Amino acid sequence: MLLKDKRAVITGGAQGLGHALAARLLKEGCRVLLADIQELEIAATVRELRAAFGENVAGRRCDVTVEADVKALVDQAVERLGGLDIFVANAGILISGPVTEFDVSQWRKVMEVNLVGQMICMKYALALMARQKSGAFIQINSKSGKKGSFKNSAYAASKFGGIGLVQSAALEMAALGVRVNAVCPGNLLDSPLWVNKLFKEYARNQGLTEAQVRQKYIDQVPLGRGCTYEDVGNVVVFLASEASSYMTGQAINVTGGQEMR
Ligand SMILES: NC(=O)c1ccc[n+]([C@@H]2O[C@H](COP(=O)([O-])OP(=O)(O)OC[C@H]3O[C@@H](n4cnc5c(N)ncnc54)[C@H](O)[C@@H]3O)[C@@H](O)[C@H]2O)c1
Repeated sequence: MLLKDKRAVITGGAQGLGHALAARLLKEGCRVLLADIQELEIAATVRELRAAFGENVAGRRCDVTVEADVKALVDQAVERLGGLDIFVANAGILISGPVTEFDVSQWRKVMEVNLVGQMICMKYALALMARQKSGAFIQINSKSGKKGSFKNSAYAASKFGGIGLVQSAALEMAALGVRVNAVCPGNLLDSPLWVNKLFKEYARNQGLTEAQVRQKYIDQVPLGRGCTYEDVGNVVVFLASEASSYMTGQAINVTGGQEMR
């Protein structure tokens, strides 16, 4: 176990990558508090994780765009866990569309969750970590945080902004013993986002079958496969651990070589 008794919060923990990262941090010995806007789903995820890993996990409803919710989340981490060693800011949304036709309120919504939500999480988690003089804040970003994404201007802009936020916060926190980094995964082709939404949309828009769409995205990866939850979990565990104690302000690609900057 690399993170025995570390206290962790994960946002967007009800499903997908957040759920998988919760299982991984529990396996590494963490005590975990999950947060998500989906109240019923977060309760179901906590039940499932308790059945597998025991009582070291709890969950609560929290909308990362609402300051009072995030403050209450961090307060609960202090009450339940006694402090906070790791904050994984994973909650995110994707709404796509051509920039010339994009509904501005939808564009703003993506920025609100993916960028403003990240800032609000930093505001409260980093304030606590600064008082503790320890902690690792890990932002889940994307390869779209480093390279424009076709018909995905809102998502890419929000993720580019996230890296600016990480670098700036890392500078503020460095002298206080708190590290701030980002992970930029490639396409998680087995995630609900792809399986329930993107394969269908891209197949329709590009006149391909869903299997052809999957192959197309695999063919873009030098290492020849999609990104997995385990690939991302390995880097999150590294960034949360003392093994990365000389790293802050970084945005690490986990893309099979698809992104190299
Ligand atoms: N799926 C991919 O291919 C992929 C690739 C790179 C990066 N990412 C990033 O990984 C993260 C997780 O993505 P995912 O694929 O698991 O998506 P997902 O949609 O399956 O899960 C996201 C979770 O965030 C929650 N959420 C949304 N808005 C919220 C809010 N305002 N407050 C709290 N929770 C909220 C959702 O309810 C959901 O449970 C995102 O930041 C995403 O940008 C995903």
